[in-house]
Amino acid sequence: MNKEPIIHTDRLILRPITLDDADACFSWNSDERVTKYMSYSTITDISQTIDWIMSTLVDESEWNFAFVLKKENKVIGTGSIGPNSKMIGYWGIGYNLHYDYWNKGYCTEAMKAIIDFAYKKLGVKKICASHAVDNPRSGNVMEKCGLKFDHYGEYMKLDGSKTFKAKYYKMELE
Ligand SMILES: CC(C)(COP(=O)(O)OP(=O)(O)OC[C@H]1O[C@@H](n2cnc3c(N)ncnc32)[C@H](O)[C@@H]1OP(=O)(O)O)[C@@H](O)C(=O)NCCC(=O)NCCS
Repeated sequence: MNKEPIIHTDRLILRPITLDDADACFSWNSDERVTKYMSYSTITDISQTIDWIMSTLVDESEWNFAFVLKKENKVIGTGSIGPNSKMIGYWGIGYNLHYDYWNKGYCTEAMKAIIDFAYKKLGVKKICASHAVDNPRSGNVMEKCGLKFDHYGEYMKLDGSKTFKAKYYKMELE
C-alpha cells in the first residue's frame, strides 16, 4: 500500500502495514485458532509472513491496515479493503486478530472505521464479505459493520486442502 492514511478510533490506531509488523503478524498467522477458516494455511516460517507483507506493499489496489492497540502500543491484528475480483464493483473486506484480543470489540471498531474511510475518502459505496458458516464470529463483525446476508456459497483454501460452506454478505451505501 503506497498511501499513508492513519485512522484513530477510541482504542486503536489504524495505519499501513510495514515490514516491522512481521513478528506481530506471524504471531497469529502461525496460530491454527486464527488461521482455521482463512484462505491461507497456517504459516510455519516467518519468511512467509514477510513475503505476504511485501506483496501488500506493492499492491496499489488493496488497503491493508495494522491495528495498533493504543494502551499497549502493540499490533494486535490486520484488516483490508480492496476491489473484489468476483463481485465486480464491490470492495471486499478481510481481517484477523491475535487470539488473545478476541471478544473485546477491537475488530468491529477497526473495520467500521476502515469502511468509513473507504466511503468518505475513496468514494467506495459497495462492500462485500464472506465467512465460513462454522466461523460465525466473523459474520458478527460483518453484521455490526452494517453488511447484510445475501447468499450461501463455498470457498477453498488457497492450497486446496479444504472447502468451506460460506455465507456471503453485502452492503450498499448511499
Ligand atoms: C473474526 C475475528 C476477527 C472476530 O473477532 P471478535 O473478537 O469476535 O470480534 P471483535 O473484536 O469485533 O469483538 C466482538 C465481540 O466482542 C464483544 N465485546 C466485548 N467487549 C466489548 C467492547 N468493549 N466493545 C464492543 N464489543 C465488545 C462483543 O460483544 C462481540 O462479541 P459477540 O460477537 O459475541 O457479540 C476473530 O475471530 C478472528 O481473528 N478469527 C480468525 C480470522 C478470521 O476468521 N477472519 C475472518 C475471515 S472471514
